Amino acid sequence: MKTPASLKFGHAPETIELWKRLVREALSLSSATPLYLLSSQPIAERVAELDKALTGAGFKSEITDRPTKVGFRHWLSCKTQPAAPLLRWWREQGRSIEVVSEFELRAALTEGFAPEKILVNGPAKHHWLSQFAVRELAVNFDSPAEIAKLLPFAKKLNWRCGVRINPSEEFDPENPQFPTQFGFTPDAAVGAIKKLQRAKVQLETLHFHLRSNVSSAQIFQCAIAEIAELCRVAKFNPLHLDIGGGMPVRHVLTRGSKVFDGEFGLRAYAEMLRQSVKLFPGLREIWLENGRWLSAGSGVLVVKILDVKERRGVRQLICDGGRTMNALMSLWEQHRILTVPERSGADVLTVVHGPTCMAFDQLARLALPRSLKAGDHLVWLDAGAYHLPWETRFSHGHAAVLWHDESGLKLARERQDFDNFWGVWK
Ligand SMILES: Cc1ncc(COP(=O)(O)O)c(C=O)c1O
Repeated sequence: MKTPASLKFGHAPETIELWKRLVREALSLSSATPLYLLSSQPIAERVAELDKALTGAGFKSEITDRPTKVGFRHWLSCKTQPAAPLLRWWREQGRSIEVVSEFELRAALTEGFAPEKILVNGPAKHHWLSQFAVRELAVNFDSPAEIAKLLPFAKKLNWRCGVRINPSEEFDPENPQFPTQFGFTPDAAVGAIKKLQRAKVQLETLHFHLRSNVSSAQIFQCAIAEIAELCRVAKFNPLHLDIGGGMPVRHVLTRGSKVFDGEFGLRAYAEMLRQSVKLFPGLREIWLENGRWLSAGSGVLVVKILDVKERRGVRQLICDGGRTMNALMSLWEQHRILTVPERSGADVLTVVHGPTCMAFDQLARLALPRSLKAGDHLVWLDAGAYHLPWETRFSHGHAAVLWHDESGLKLARERQDFDNFWGVWK
């Protein structure tokens, strides 16, 4: 396999070796491309790395029990990678999951997560959550209408409640002058806290989620300080501070070839949290819901070259998967590509296209060997977050999915066939 040398993604050689080995194995198991190949190993490595940084800063690990210290808990962001084998693998380790929709809650329950290991987030859940008579769920309220409708259920079912705050650091990344639509403004949150306290529900958590790819620990710190001030005004000491996800993705470049995590360091992040928890007397746990940082490295997209064209100075590879169907992220991001088999010789400016009838369908534009030909495979790395949920059925069916963990590699989802593709119509 060969990687174009011009772009610096910074993967460890062992990571590349892992994917080379798994891709070879996957292609011998299933020739049905496009396929996503997912592995638990990179997630386990990320969790261990973050745990090390946090325990190094004095936090109690999720697994051990030292009641004197503030602990932390990783909630798997289900929306980021809603793959059944991932949920199973995560649950088997006794870990917790965060869901934001009826389907995700049903998926978590179907996969056997205990209700006290499920956190329900997201907007407008008063339109569906009341149909679940599930006790002990953790639920973060997003609006006054949610509280009004769900309060009786929260009391009756002993939900462990939280309030999502919209701190000033949370804004629409594409239009930073506008806030996002989520949570309560700090002023409104004080009223919501008082209302929940008067109703005598178990109010335990304050929550925020800023956005994807937060560039530095300092930004989290400002948001946490704002929440601490709100707690002072409301005279409320939460047991849990849920700081959402947003740690920046690794080994992926912007379209302008910059890394997303250049100003972000785990040690600084852990130290920032160590300082910040001092603002919260009585705090028991920091809750983390990282999606991209945790999962992006756990998947690759494998496509096959179907046709090759050359015009106006570029070589065009038309593949059986691409942006429109499998990798919307390529609109904003550049990912490293490996080639199978390894092709050598001179590189030439190449555009990798998917098979749909959209000029938009461009997975990448980069230098690749001229010797690549129809029948070869391309491996688009770091496709483990927000690829499955943003997959489309545009002219073609969904991709196959293979899953790898300690027990080996297996086909987790067949490539969608025509009966399934068309059979949904009445
Ligand atoms: C409430 C909440 N938590 C966690 C996440 C995961 O975010 P990220 O993938 O940026 O870590 C999201 C993503 O949208 C979210 O909305």
